[in-house]
Amino acid sequence: MPVLATGGAGYVGSSAVRCLLAKGYDVFAYDSLIKGHRQSLPAERLIIGELADKNRLVQVMRDRKIDAVMHFAAFISVGESTERPLEYYHNNIVNSLTLLEAMQEADVKKIVFSSTAAVYAPITEGALQEDSPKNPDSPYAFSKYAIERLIADFSRAYGLGYTILRYFNACGASPDGRYGEDHDPETHLIPLVLRVPLGQRKKIGIFGRDYPTPDGTCIRDYIHVDDLADAHRRALEAMPSGRGSIYNIGTGTGHSVLEVIRTAEEVTGQKIACEDLPRRNGDTTRLVAGSEKLRKELGWAPTYQNLHDIIESAWRWHRNHPDGYGKN
Ligand code: UFG
Repeated sequence: MPVLATGGAGYVGSSAVRCLLAKGYDVFAYDSLIKGHRQSLPAERLIIGELADKNRLVQVMRDRKIDAVMHFAAFISVGESTERPLEYYHNNIVNSLTLLEAMQEADVKKIVFSSTAAVYAPITEGALQEDSPKNPDSPYAFSKYAIERLIADFSRAYGLGYTILRYFNACGASPDGRYGEDHDPETHLIPLVLRVPLGQRKKIGIFGRDYPTPDGTCIRDYIHVDDLADAHRRALEAMPSGRGSIYNIGTGTGHSVLEVIRTAEEVTGQKIACEDLPRRNGDTTRLVAGSEKLRKELGWAPTYQNLHDIIESAWRWHRNHPDGYGKN
C-alpha cells in the first residue's frame, strides 16, 4: 500500500514514516522542510513540496500510485495560534482543503488525520472520551476540529475512508537516541526542561501554579512518539473504506508539570531550577486520554507506560544532539 505522509519530515510524521518503512511499507514524506528535518528519514523517502501546491500533490500521488495519505503537516502551538490566527487558519485549514481536493483528483480514498486533544471542552478530573463535549477555543484547536468535519463530510459525500487520531502530548525520542524532537521555536515542556541540565538555560518557567489540580500545575497525558506512530500504522491497516473512525491516543495517565520536572531530575541526576510564571494563554487544566477504543478496536497498547522511560529516551536524544538535527 503506497502511502504519502504530509509533514512526514516532522517530529511525529517522521516517526510514523520510519515505523512504516520498518514494516515494509512503500511510504514517502511530502514536506516543505519549513519545520521538518531532512535528516529525520532516508533521503530517498523525502519529497520536498508545498501543501498549497495542488498540482504537485496530484502529480506525486499519481506517479507514486498512492493509496492512502497520512496528514501530519500543520502548525501545532496553541499559544502561538492565538497570536497568529491567520497563519494557523491558512496553513491548517486552507492547505488541508487543497490536500483533500488533490486526493479527490488523484482518486486517493483513504486518509489518517492528525487531530488533537485540544478540541475537547475543559475537564478537571477523569479522562476524555472520543464523544466527550468539544470546545475548540483556540485557533489551533478550531483549525483541527474544522478539518475533522471536512473529512467526515467528504466521507459522506465522496466515499472517503478516514481515521482521525486525537493526539495527547507527543514526546520522547527513538530508543537509539538518533531521532527526536526539534522544534523552532521550542515551546514543549519536556525538551525545555531538559535544556536546564544540558546547560542551555538556567531554569524552567512553570506556567501557572493555581490550577485546580493536586499540586496546582496543569496535567497532561504524555504519549511516546513511537506509540503514536504505531497507532497510525494500525489505523492504516484497519481503515474502513468509505467510512471513518475517531480515536484518542494517550496512555490514560496524567502527569503534572511539577511531576515532569521531578522525573527529569531523576533521569538526569541533576537539580532543575524552576520559576513560577503566570498562566499561558490557551492552556487548559487537564488533558488525559480515555484510549479504550483504540486499545479494543485496533489492538494498540503503549510500549512506553511510564514517564521515566519516556523522559529517558528524550534525554538520550537531547544529550546526543544538543542542537537538534542541525542545518537542513
Ligand atoms: N509548560 C510550562 N512551561 C514551559 C512549557 C510548558 O509550564 O516552558 C506547561 C504548559 O503550561 C502545559 C504543559 O507544560 O501545562 C504542557 O505544555 P506543552 O507546551 O508541552 O504542550 P501543550 O499541552 O500546550 O500542547 C501539546 C501540543 C498541542 C496539542 C496538545 C494536546 O503542542 O499541539 O499537546 O494535549 F494540542
